[in-house]
Amino acid sequence: MSLSVTRIGKSFVAEVGGVDLSQPLDSETAEQIRQAWWDNSILVFRDQDITDEQHVAFSHNFGELQGHSVTAWLSRDHPEILVLSSKGRSGAMPLKNGGAYWHSDITYEAVPPMGSILHGITIPPEGGDTLYADMYAAYDALDDETKALIDGRMAIHNYQLRYIKMTEGGARPAPTAEQLAEWQDVRHPVVLKNPDSGRKALFVNEGFTVSIEGLGKEESDALLEKLFAHSEKPEFVYAHKWRPHDIVMWDNRCTMHSATDFDDNKYERTMQRTTIKGTALQQAAAA
Ligand code: SIN
Repeated sequence: MSLSVTRIGKSFVAEVGGVDLSQPLDSETAEQIRQAWWDNSILVFRDQDITDEQHVAFSHNFGELQGHSVTAWLSRDHPEILVLSSKGRSGAMPLKNGGAYWHSDITYEAVPPMGSILHGITIPPEGGDTLYADMYAAYDALDDETKALIDGRMAIHNYQLRYIKMTEGGARPAPTAEQLAEWQDVRHPVVLKNPDSGRKALFVNEGFTVSIEGLGKEESDALLEKLFAHSEKPEFVYAHKWRPHDIVMWDNRCTMHSATDFDDNKYERTMQRTTIKGTALQQAAAA
């Protein structure tokens, strides 16, 4: 059976069929998937009831993997797997909808991940979708004046504020001194030229981008608010309605995502993510 790649929903999302992710990929199939990923930004694979080992093995086709600075959320047996489970799983502490705000993964690190691969394991019957925003389309749709203002500029990203906000109400453990020391400001281009596609994407997110360099606080806050509101518009967003054992992989350099709410008193939601390391190249590839 040969690989099929079919656009669904929006122009930046495709469903991939004709492949069994529990099996090792031959080099030709891995290359076809990589090419489909650069062409589409988000790939959806249905009915892939894979083990944690198979999830990790599949992910290795796309690069080295990284864990997370909050190690309590990592699978004890497979520390390459981030467990996003309202009930906890594999020794990882429960985390209700950890990604329920607009963000690209881990942009608060000096070299953010290239992409992520999420396995939907237990899906609530209502809520708990994942929204994805197309940051190429968001950039392309900006007016020329805004493009001129942001092209070549750098933004500051930081995890401390977001994390501390989410500890309120006891949803997360207080950060350790080590974590706070690790979560320092990092700089990334506001407009990122994706080295794999050659296309420009808006690279700021509500989760972790705190300011734009070279602007006063008021101007920076107003511009970020405008860019966040712009990129979250429905015309740039695809809502993924999960089925058990969907695998969704996204290019972190040109998309953002946000999980939607669900009733965790009634339902469990368990997802597991591998995260593919980025390269310094993406830093050098600023517009
Ligand atoms: C994430 O933010 O990586 C997970 C998104 C989700 O749980 O839907």
